[in-house]
Amino acid sequence: MQVQENYSLKSYNTFGIAAKARFFVSVATISELKEALASPLHPTKFILGGGSNMLLTKDIDALVIHISLKGIEVLSEEKNHVTVRVMAGENWHEFVLYTLKQGWGGLENLSLIPGNVGTAPIQNIGAYGVELKDRMVSCKAVSVADGSEHTFPLEACEFGYRNSIFKHRLKGQFVITEVVFQLTKHEHDLHTEYGAIREQLKTLGITEATPKDIAEAVIAIRQQKLPDPKTLGNSGSFFKNPVISKTDFERFQTLFPEAPYYIVSETEIKIPAGWLIEQAGFKGKRFGDAGVHKNQALVLVNHENATGEEIWNLAMKIQKAVHERFGITIEPEVNII
Ligand code: EPU
Repeated sequence: MQVQENYSLKSYNTFGIAAKARFFVSVATISELKEALASPLHPTKFILGGGSNMLLTKDIDALVIHISLKGIEVLSEEKNHVTVRVMAGENWHEFVLYTLKQGWGGLENLSLIPGNVGTAPIQNIGAYGVELKDRMVSCKAVSVADGSEHTFPLEACEFGYRNSIFKHRLKGQFVITEVVFQLTKHEHDLHTEYGAIREQLKTLGITEATPKDIAEAVIAIRQQKLPDPKTLGNSGSFFKNPVISKTDFERFQTLFPEAPYYIVSETEIKIPAGWLIEQAGFKGKRFGDAGVHKNQALVLVNHENATGEEIWNLAMKIQKAVHERFGITIEPEVNII
């Protein structure tokens, strides 16, 4: 186990924040992971996956364990289904592209989401009408406390909108090591109901879409709206879309009839936080190196050398302004460290 000291995490978080790990180790096997978790020299541990859903507001005074477990394996194959296991350290988008190359359907709407496979279940990644929970069979995790291995079937993960058991009840207690998906070979469950996808397919001249076509449409939409973390540090949507009661919504709608919304259930309505932030005047704004993306106000960006604290201060300023204007509280989606 090769432990480094005072190690810069700038290239390990998609915000590109130059915070440091007091100790750092990258693990490529389950036994290395267990060894790192059991290290008596470093009592505090911090698990780092793709670094795509966190904002580092300070240095990490712990042993940072970077999950670098790799591998993709077909577990079983039937007429129309394939069950595939993928290790936590694989890059999410590269895995999606791999499945599409094999002709498998299911993950196309989740193309180009930054981060690694192991982080995907934690926040139940979702886009354009599909969430990870719709395709996942189970995931495996190692206990931080004693290194024991556990399998979590889908139902045990308590998935919700950008939420799972790993984000609340079991927060920080398990390291996800692998995820198992069931994908389709022929009869695909395609989701093209999002207006943006339908329009993009039309632009591409496609009438009978395949999973690959949908992935191409999603990639084009995301590239137009969302910044590439390789060129502009960001963590995707910084805030969750707020869900409000029908009663609050009726009041809101009389004041802002033009606001977009999605019906979640008979009693709940979701309002796009991007719209609220844009209306509050923040879209494209820059405060030093911390900013709000010019094409999607839900995304905060690091123009180069912003500190995590500067990004956090901007987030708080936005939260306050949105609350003052609309009476709605928007909560961060990213983990604030
Ligand atoms: N909008 C604005 N101004 C903005 C941004 C959005 O008015 O600056 C409006 C749009 O015009 C549209 C509505 O808000 O009417 C929704 O926008 P969009 O379709 O871009 O989706 P979103 O609700 O802002 C969510 C996810 C994204 C995901 C897209 C597509 C959350 C927090 N975000 O964004 O996920 O890609 O839907 O499904 O749910 C992520 O989690 O990192 C992420 C990018």
